[in-house]
Amino acid sequence: MPNFDSLVNIAKQAREMAHAPISNFRVGAALLAKSGRIFTGCNIENASLGLTCCAERTAIFKAVSEGERGFDAIAVVADTDTLTPPCGACRQIIWEFCGDVPVILANLGGKVVQESSGGLLPRPFDSSLL
Ligand code: THU
Repeated sequence: MPNFDSLVNIAKQAREMAHAPISNFRVGAALLAKSGRIFTGCNIENASLGLTCCAERTAIFKAVSEGERGFDAIAVVADTDTLTPPCGACRQIIWEFCGDVPVILANLGGKVVQESSGGLLPRPFDSSLL
């Protein structure tokens, strides 16, 4: 597997920016674009709970809004013994913009597991079905 250590470390730093006053569950993400740029994201909660944006979507929307298209990997970091995978909404968004890419899950204690967006979202709905 490629060395995703730096992507995980950048996601850890992004987690520090989390705005999670409701859940206190802080998540960071780092998205590697094909251009070589890395975009970070953190979860951003709102008193109107449904408006919360996860770390993964924050990173992807930042990148897409800056003109990036095509991504090679995304790392997700939370402070949990059981590694935190992307929620269902984020799996769909990752698939839409990244296709089948490595999804690296990590915690603060050095545990790292590599999964894939295709594995996390079997039989995806996407534009090929429209
Ligand atoms: N969250 C993320 O940012 N990413 C995930 O992969 C799972 C959940 C956030 C959303 C919410 O702010 C908090 O974690 C608890 O659900």
